[in-house]
Amino acid sequence: MKLLIDDADVDAITRLIDYYPIDGVTTNPSILAKSGRQPFDVLKEIRAIIGPDDELHAQVVARDAAGMIEDAKRIVGELGPNTFAKVPSVPEGFKAMKALSAAGVPITATAIYTPLQAFIAAKSGASYAAPYINRIDNMGYDGVAVACAIHDIFRANDFDCDVLAASFKNSQQVLELARHGVGASTVASSVIDGLVRNSAIDAAVDAFTADFEGLVGAGRTMA
Ligand code: E4P
Repeated sequence: MKLLIDDADVDAITRLIDYYPIDGVTTNPSILAKSGRQPFDVLKEIRAIIGPDDELHAQVVARDAAGMIEDAKRIVGELGPNTFAKVPSVPEGFKAMKALSAAGVPITATAIYTPLQAFIAAKSGASYAAPYINRIDNMGYDGVAVACAIHDIFRANDFDCDVLAASFKNSQQVLELARHGVGASTVASSVIDGLVRNSAIDAAVDAFTADFEGLVGAGRTMA
C-alpha cells in the first residue's frame, strides 16, 4: 500500500518526507484554502519538495465536464509527470474522466462514498478511486468495508485502477486497509505522526539507552 500525505502544509510535508517512506501528496480545495496561498504557488512548492517521481494529486474545481477538463489539463500541465487530476465522481465528472483518460491525463476519481461510484470511475478511465473512509464512518456505514469492496471489484474486473483511500481520523482505519492491501492511502499529517506514536515504544528505547549508558557511560554510543 502506498502512503501519501493529505495536506498542503509545506513545513509538515518537508518534515514527514524526511522521516517516513512517503509516496506522494494529495490536496483538495478545502486543504488548499487552509494554506491561505494561491493554489498553484503552493502546489508548485509541494512538487519541488517531493521531487518529480512522487505522486501529486490536485483537484479540479469546475462543476461542469468542459471546465473540469480545462482544470485537469492545467493541473497536469503545470505540475508535471506523476501528477493526477482529482475529479469528483458525479455525472459531469464521469463525462470529464472519459475525455481525460482518452487524452492520456491521469485521473483520481474523488468524493467516493459508494462502490458503484468507484466501479463507474474505473470504467471511465480513472487510475485511482478515493473513498472517504472517515466521512463514510460518520454516516453510520463502514468506510473500511467500502474501500475493501472497491479493491475487490477492481481486482475481480481486472480494472487498471487502484483504491486511494482518503479521509482518515485514526491509525486503526489505516491498519485495516494495509491488511487488505489496497493500492494507496492518503493520510493527514497529524494522523501519520500518530501511526507510530506509542509510549510503550518510547519506554522500550529509553530502557535500552539507560542500560547501555550504565555499562559504558552517559552519551556513549556504539560508534
Ligand atoms: C481526499 O480525496 C479527500 O479530499 C480528503 O481526504 C478528505 O478528508 P477529510 O474527510 O478529512 O476532509
